[in-house]
Amino acid sequence: MNSLQSLLDIDRQHFMHPSTHAQDHQSGALAGKIVTGANGIRIHTHDGRELLDAFAGLYCVNVGYGRQAIADAIHAQASRLAYYHTYVGHSTDTIIELSRRIIGWAPVGMKKVYYGMSGSDANETQIKIVWYYNNVLGRPAKKKIISRHRAYHGSGLMTGSLTGLPTFHDMFDLPFSQVRHTVCPHWYRQAAPGMNEAQFVAYCVDELEKLIAVEGADTIAAFIGEPVMGTGGIIVPPAGYWPAIQQVLKRHDILLIADEVVCGFGRIGSPMGSQHFGIEPDLITIAKGLTSAYLPLSGVIVGEKVWDGIATGSVEHGPMGHGWTYSGHPVCAAAALANLDILERENLQTNAANVGAYMQQQLQESFAGHPLVGEVRGLGMLAAVEFMANGQERRAFDPDLKVGVRVAAELLERGVIGRAMPHGDILAFAPPLVTTTDDVDTIVAAARSAVDAVTEALGSAVVA
Ligand SMILES: Cc1ncc(COP(=O)(O)O)c(C=O)c1O
Repeated sequence: MNSLQSLLDIDRQHFMHPSTHAQDHQSGALAGKIVTGANGIRIHTHDGRELLDAFAGLYCVNVGYGRQAIADAIHAQASRLAYYHTYVGHSTDTIIELSRRIIGWAPVGMKKVYYGMSGSDANETQIKIVWYYNNVLGRPAKKKIISRHRAYHGSGLMTGSLTGLPTFHDMFDLPFSQVRHTVCPHWYRQAAPGMNEAQFVAYCVDELEKLIAVEGADTIAAFIGEPVMGTGGIIVPPAGYWPAIQQVLKRHDILLIADEVVCGFGRIGSPMGSQHFGIEPDLITIAKGLTSAYLPLSGVIVGEKVWDGIATGSVEHGPMGHGWTYSGHPVCAAAALANLDILERENLQTNAANVGAYMQQQLQESFAGHPLVGEVRGLGMLAAVEFMANGQERRAFDPDLKVGVRVAAELLERGVIGRAMPHGDILAFAPPLVTTTDDVDTIVAAARSAVDAVTEALGSAVVA
């Protein structure tokens, strides 16, 4: 076994980390962290620390760490049948049962599940399905996809294009030409002064209508959206937003893809985000909470209308030219089934609703009137605190001050993991769905203390 120091050295030499400053990591300026174990909602690190993981990894370890039942299910499936492909109609009992269970979690009208390994590959599949569908229908020009500024749909080539954050575009020559971005439904940061929430919804709808008019509805295939935006900064759309947007899409025969990678499987207190907001999607993307990250697994849930198009297409064009080696992997499916068993048996969706409501309330109370805080927002087990130089005037900090990153670092010092979101100064929380009200008290107390410390350090940069 390598010594701890040599492990950290090898990490710097040979491991290329995602979303990591390359030079700072290699030089050691960015302190590495080796995670050695985890249990419940806490992880253990190489330096002997125990940290409360209030972001569930990357909002994915929804049932918490150390679930023996999932480990056992993985072991049993790998021993019995580690793999067989699912091309040309091949199946396994495990993936068949999982498909039935997933449809039970989805809103009405959903028919089939196509499997992948990540949220990104599932969203790539979404776009291929949508393009295939319109080609089958004889509408070859209807191919553009509308996404939203600050959306996150992955970091592949097409999905990176759908993502509405500059870091995922700059230096990669993205977005692709078929992608358009419309208004991010964040009233606090995007609404003009004096605009109330209802007026802001009307503005979002109007902007979408204008975009469709400019591009031509016959060139637009689909609209993709997260029910609550995640990586863009935990943005809950104002009341009435989704029904109004959906009306426009229906009128122009534009498909709706609900990206449920974060909201799916109970995180906001409903089975998926779609049921909470009354969204009636044509296609749904799932990943993260499907296995609580015990193994990678994602899926595209295809609604009846699109499925009919695919079935019709195969008559003329044969099998769809789209497949992954690991689509429907039985060991990942076994992990998902054991995970869904836990979610259902322990009623974690209800816990997410109840403890989530408590978390929102505690954060609101703790930060009411705080000079560093512009907005506290969230839904269920998704929450964010946004820091502003002047909250009243909605004036942001100079990004070079790295206020969000500094608060997250102070929080870590206090034993709690939150996430500084990439756009703006935002500290986000997405704890596992097993989190208790006592845990919330720990998270909120640490957050308040961390924010106070940064406020003091910033001094006159903050306008009270
Ligand atoms: C809403 C959403 N869609 C897609 C993805 C991409 O998933 P993955 O990182 O598994 O490719 C993410 C990842 O955070 C996400 O939040």
